[in-house]
Amino acid sequence: MKIAVLISGRGSNLQSLIDAQARGSLSAEISLVISNIPNATGLECAIRAGIPTKTISHRDFLDRRDFEGAINIALLEAHIELVCLAGFMRLLTDSFVNEWSDRLVNIHPSLLPSFKGLNTHERALDAGVRFTGCTVHFVRSEMDNGPVILQAAVPILPDDDADSLAARVLEQEHIIYPLAVDMIASGRILVENGQVKIKDPGLPDAPLINPSG
Ligand code: GRF
Repeated sequence: MKIAVLISGRGSNLQSLIDAQARGSLSAEISLVISNIPNATGLECAIRAGIPTKTISHRDFLDRRDFEGAINIALLEAHIELVCLAGFMRLLTDSFVNEWSDRLVNIHPSLLPSFKGLNTHERALDAGVRFTGCTVHFVRSEMDNGPVILQAAVPILPDDDADSLAARVLEQEHIIYPLAVDMIASGRILVENGQVKIKDPGLPDAPLINPSG
């Protein structure tokens, strides 16, 4: 399965997908990386790995539809079958989302449906929840919404601040994003009645209770 990764910045999730492909644990080929930000650090990860890149800056287009039209052309030219958003900081229109329905995934740094949007770690700390985490989901037109594929829970520790929490959540993002993409590419993910069904997940049961002692 040919996949494209859309980024706007650092690209650490892109790097986790590149690493998974390099160790043979991603049954997909990262065929294209698109950034809407020229010189995004993540582009360097792609270039180092020999993956074709394109910069499609939203600033070069009159409106979102034209911007997405250019992205769509690049995806179609590269015969992309699955689009992975990885820190892509532009909202997508219904028309793009519907066109790629069930072939467009995102990673979000919270346990959805809690803490949609930005500043998830600050908001989880302010809310006093015991766990936060990250979610890989299919994209629907409402922001940070759509059938959940995988989630990882991360306990919130007494001394956490937003940075320490973000770092521990990011470690889990780097585990579950490649896993989810591999499950999709190997045909183990079905969407039925708006929910994801997983065939042969092959993951250990790992209940967590926090505080644990
Ligand atoms: C990640 O925290 C991801 O969950 C969110 O944006 C951030 C992107 O980080 N959607 P990176 O560019 O992959 O390092």
